[in-house]
Amino acid sequence: MTTPSRRLLLLLPLLAVAVAASHPAHEFCAAEGDAGCGGGGDGARILIKGGTVVNAHRAEEADVYIEDGVVVAIRPNIPVGDVNVRVIDATGKYVMPGGIDPHTHLAMEFMGTVTIDDFFSGHAAALAGGTTMHIDFVIPVNGNLTAGVESYKQKAANAAMDYGFNMAITKWNDEVAREMEVMVKEHGMNYFKFFMAYKGSLMVTDDLLLPGLQKCKSLGALAMVHAENGDAVAEGQQRMINLGITGPEGHALSRPPILEGEATARAIRLAKFINTPLYVVHVMSVDAMEEIAKAKREGQRVVGEPVVSELALDDSWLWNPDFTIASKYVMSPPIREAGHGSR
Ligand SMILES: *[C@@H]1O[C@H](CO)[C@@H](O)[C@H](O)[C@H]1NC(C)=O
Repeated sequence: MTTPSRRLLLLLPLLAVAVAASHPAHEFCAAEGDAGCGGGGDGARILIKGGTVVNAHRAEEADVYIEDGVVVAIRPNIPVGDVNVRVIDATGKYVMPGGIDPHTHLAMEFMGTVTIDDFFSGHAAALAGGTTMHIDFVIPVNGNLTAGVESYKQKAANAAMDYGFNMAITKWNDEVAREMEVMVKEHGMNYFKFFMAYKGSLMVTDDLLLPGLQKCKSLGALAMVHAENGDAVAEGQQRMINLGITGPEGHALSRPPILEGEATARAIRLAKFINTPLYVVHVMSVDAMEEIAKAKREGQRVVGEPVVSELALDDSWLWNPDFTIASKYVMSPPIREAGHGSR
């Protein structure tokens, strides 16, 4: 971690996308003298000199001039015309936008436990690695969306960086459908997530997914799915228990790629039937990836979310004899075996 972090000079204010709950929805700091934005006052002018500015379209040697938290100019040799400008020497360093992580679960209560990182420690880790904004999933409280938002606002009280909220839909009734509209119109949420896995807790079956997709369509919101066949996963888990395999290694064995492929294919077809776009979160298998690629080739609007752990690791970590090491590699869908995808 030290090498890249020393090389990177993060440009924190470059990206202010989506809805940060710390600011009112859809309001952004204006470039000039907006009180309460970017700190204001004399400290608010920053000139980053001599770095290599990396953006989506190219990398170039340039200076970056920032006023009140907003990038005003990116070009070579910007003169230091004002004594109130704070100059940062970025010679030999990369200057790049902060990353946005669209998929996090900080301080999430789940299966009788809570994710270990809260908004503060999660934000500290993200900032150290160059991610400066994230979008977390509000989990409704007993299916109550408004209560979910209230709960997540409390969780986020110790936030240290920009964040936005999306929401998981875990139950279905007229009240949920009505509240989805409130989430979009009053809280600026623009996507909803449906878990096709986690039977007995978050799982939605097709009779919920279908009206959910329909509601997303009518609201102009994007539907997301965690695509694994939750019924079959429950069966796979029972098989492992019957075999006496209860360690982390049983996790991947209980939910093979075929179950991810099945749910991905089903979600894609249901989204096509409703005629609404689909975002498949954490694509962890070739089985799912091929379904997404096929749908895209056929012109359907489907997005697959890549995950670094799937690209960089294999499930041998789950077999580490030290439980505290192996258990850290448990995620769903699971990290797949070495060679998965090179068949
Ligand atoms: C949902 O929660 C909100 C806020 O806690 C509350 O005001 C509302 O009555 C709840 N709705 C239902 C249907 O229980």
